[in-house]
Amino acid sequence: FAFTDANRRWAEAQIKKYPEGRQASAIIPLLWRAQEQEGWLSRPAIEHVADMLGMAYIRALEVATFYFMFQLQPVGSVAHVQVCGTLSCMICGAEDLIGVCKDKIAPKAHALSADGRFSWEEVECLGACANAPMVQIGKDYYEDLTAESLADLLDRLAAGEVPVPGPQNGRYASEPK
Ligand code: FES
Repeated sequence: FAFTDANRRWAEAQIKKYPEGRQASAIIPLLWRAQEQEGWLSRPAIEHVADMLGMAYIRALEVATFYFMFQLQPVGSVAHVQVCGTLSCMICGAEDLIGVCKDKIAPKAHALSADGRFSWEEVECLGACANAPMVQIGKDYYEDLTAESLADLLDRLAAGEVPVPGPQNGRYASEPK
């Protein structure tokens, strides 16, 4: 792994924001950019970031493993579905959503679908409890889901559509953008 020229220039600019000797403070943005470039964080990607920051690999790995936003194994090329399994979502049907993911993607969390295009995992509260149950796909939230609407969402993603994020039951407080 190596950053593309554009990403390397961007990373160097991030590092310069911090005082001499504090380059390690740029770890999260650099790991995030590496994940955006590669789709997930491989060991070589984490090593590359650690080298740029003058850190030991193990320290960079500690950060990468602390946050569930960092993916330490390959994810689906079309979508990685993060299903909230915390209290509000669990009460409102997260188990049904997980069932859809098991049926349509893969029986086990973090496994790739047969075509490599989808993966899923259960995560902790994503802060959208009022619209439970919900999932995060990429940077988007899809809320007020049912098993049927999640299955439909996955079908539309598989067909190349980009479904409108937000509540999926029409319960908008204002018009969607
Ligand atoms: Fe699911 Fe908070 S419990 S978003």
